[in-house]
Amino acid sequence: MAASTQVRVLDERTPEERDRPFLPGAGKTWLLPFYDAFTRVGGVRALHERAARLAGVEPGQTVADIGCGTGNLSFTVLAVQPTAQVTGLDPDGDALRRAARKARRRGVALTLVQGYADRFPAPDASFDHVVSSLALHHLDADGRSAFAREALRTLRPGGKVTIADFGGPSSNVEDHGHSGHDHSGHDHSAHGRGPAHALRHLPLLGRSRTGHGHAADGDGLVALLSEAGFSDAREVGHADHRFGRVAFVQATRP
Ligand SMILES: C[S@@+](CC[C@H](N)C(=O)[O-])C[C@H]1O[C@@H](n2cnc3c(N)ncnc32)[C@H](O)[C@@H]1O
Repeated sequence: MAASTQVRVLDERTPEERDRPFLPGAGKTWLLPFYDAFTRVGGVRALHERAARLAGVEPGQTVADIGCGTGNLSFTVLAVQPTAQVTGLDPDGDALRRAARKARRRGVALTLVQGYADRFPAPDASFDHVVSSLALHHLDADGRSAFAREALRTLRPGGKVTIADFGGPSSNVEDHGHSGHDHSGHDHSAHGRGPAHALRHLPLLGRSRTGHGHAADGDGLVALLSEAGFSDAREVGHADHRFGRVAFVQATRP
């Protein structure tokens, strides 16, 4: 997960991780081409802008964007701080290749790594910032705990984690357990109700009304980061977005 001056896509998955299931950004692999349009129309850009501003990345700092998908938070961080060295991590190779094409079109440097949030392929203390938007609700509770531990490990002392994700006091979401989507977008779970259901999943971005994904409420994220060893974990804001309440949570590595 080293930064570079060009656009790179690296596959850092272990042999075991190659067959590992994950829930794609739009719920189904075939919906990926529509993801950016739906999220643009859905006003997700404002969430990315707020998260990037809250992160407060300084010139030349290293940033890991976990569950980066098609790279929209990474690009927003680069727009706010063009000399940042940003690395995006996501298990979805197609989304990463889409992010790479966008980066080349924009002429920005970006490193994209195929891998999972519970194992950042990066050395200890290698990032100034870990950021993540709308991705942690795609992980189960164990995955989120491992994400927090990995964020702590890979941040330098004084480094900051900034998360924007669904949940919080006004949300009526519940943890429905792992939904069992596989890497090819097939849904083996009880939630799988075909393409129409998957299409509903995309504009809702997941879980709060569809029952997909996993609770990642603001309070839960604060506890998650505190338990992993972060100091000063707190919800620094929220947005009552049309897709559901989005909590902005931050913490500092001691
Ligand atoms: C709703 S999308 C959000 C993408 C992007 N962060 C954004 O704000 O547009 C959720 C992303 O989480 C990724 N994801 C799912 N399981 C993951 C895992 N175990 N580790 C890391 N990313 C994961 C999906 O592939 C998808 O790209």
